[in-house]
Amino acid sequence: MKKMVFLAGALAITALPALAEMPSQAAICVTCHQASGLGMPNLAPSIAGMPASYLATQIEHFKKGERQSATMKPMADMLDEAGVKAASEWFASLPLPLPEDPAWRGDKDPASLTGGEKLAYLGDWRRDLPSCVTCHGPEGVGVGEHIPHLAGQHADYIEDQLKAWQAGTRVNDVNGIMGAMAKKLTAEEITAVAQYFANVETK
Ligand code: HEC
Ligand code: HEC
Repeated sequence: MKKMVFLAGALAITALPALAEMPSQAAICVTCHQASGLGMPNLAPSIAGMPASYLATQIEHFKKGERQSATMKPMADMLDEAGVKAASEWFASLPLPLPEDPAWRGDKDPASLTGGEKLAYLGDWRRDLPSCVTCHGPEGVGVGEHIPHLAGQHADYIEDQLKAWQAGTRVNDVNGIMGAMAKKLTAEEITAVAQYFANVETK
């Protein structure tokens, strides 16, 4: 029996793709963001598999105070240029679980959508609110170098960021797009849309 358990464990390990070795600068980061980079609810966001340039930009924003976080400011300040690059590239290389076959806008019957999913897929044109998936990709899988994934991100973190843009404690995002959008959302909408993206099924 013991042997079988051991064998199963060994198989599980060899089945994983080879990961780049963690750079020394990331050693402290994984206490919160975890060695998987997936973070934990109410502790730290998932940053695995995000574009390295997006992660590096965010670290610079914490340094400059364009993103205010008492937790992340000292972490960012600890990293020199080489450290920012090494940590960003390593977290970017970690596997990110995403929906296997994400649904595009046209795949969903608009009449069937409610709450957070409705906002995510349809936005609200009366308030000039584009749908989140227009930029963040189907089910929030993320797009390109500048638009992070939301699928499977922790709900508390999504909420906090939308509120940070409303309060002006997160600024200087690309063209101020998110700041302008977040300011149009009600508290109920923020909770609903955060719940929707956090609960997208990922593999
Ligand atoms: C004590 C816990 C903790 C540690 C240690 C920590 N972080 Fe964070 N990290 C957080 C929290 C909390 C946030 C969300 C901050 C906010 O609300 O803006 C965050 C946010 C981030 C973000 C922004 C993610 C995004 O999606 O925009 C990046 C990038 C990041 N951390 C990188 C790092 C790196 C690199 C290190 C190591 C040098 C590190 N963190 C260490 C808790 C931590
Ligand atoms: C016009 C394009 C666009 C639309 C529409 C949009 N976003 Fe974004 N979003 C962005 C960009 C660009 C960023 C990266 C901001 C940065 O660089 O700091 C972002 C970042 C975010 C983040 C921060 C993620 C992180 O890891 O820190 C959250 C949360 C978010 N968006 C939620 C939403 C929600 C919810 C909606 C719909 C109500 C939405 N977005 C619609 C472009 C968009």
